[in-house]
Amino acid sequence: MDVHNVELTISAVRPEQYPEQGYPEIALSGRSNVGKSSLINTLINRKNYARTSSQPGKTQTLNFYNIEDELYFVDVPGYGYAKVSKKDREKWGKMIETYFETRKPLRGVISLVDARHEPTELDKQMIEFLHYYELPILVVGTKVDKIARGKWNKSESTIRRKLGLHKEDQLILFSAVTKQGKEKIWDWIEQHTN
Ligand code: GTP
Ligand code: MG
Repeated sequence: MDVHNVELTISAVRPEQYPEQGYPEIALSGRSNVGKSSLINTLINRKNYARTSSQPGKTQTLNFYNIEDELYFVDVPGYGYAKVSKKDREKWGKMIETYFETRKPLRGVISLVDARHEPTELDKQMIEFLHYYELPILVVGTKVDKIARGKWNKSESTIRRKLGLHKEDQLILFSAVTKQGKEKIWDWIEQHTN
């Protein structure tokens, strides 16, 4: 999709605050600093629309971005930031669970992992959670510009194995710097929102 009109409709915590237009929705999740906002910016051809973070772990809201009055991207706050209190982590967990469990327009989840490293235990838990709710999954391996081309296949197989991906779960390596993977990610989004 060639995106021109984007609007942050709402930063929501509770279901009553979720938008009601009924546009299909794609959520983006991943640990703090993995590159969620950078991926959104790349997909919508903006430099810094979805704020790339200066304070990791600070955003604790679901940010709904209206894309061309056709769909929503939902930027899910990152997990795994060490300095977040136990209480805030519990709040985060409840918010995410409510959203994934109850949200009717949600068509799929893009789960980001850093392609340079083995997925973490929390990355794996997120995938298990998405499998449990039977949500379509696209795993995006980020920051691939930082690894040599000769290691891309190995990175892909490590991610698949460590996350326990099912064969229908898709995996695309991506870079916000080179834009590698952008078109394939859009193809997946369009397949799941049309
Ligand atoms: P939170 O909102 O804190 O959860 O972080 P986030 O997942 O939205 O990450 P964000 O997009 O803010 O990116 C974190 C840092 O990684 C920033 O310094 C980005 O510039 C950098 N970054 C993101 N994507 C890429 C990439 O593809 N390649 C490289 N080299 N750096 C990236
Ligand atoms: Mg962000």
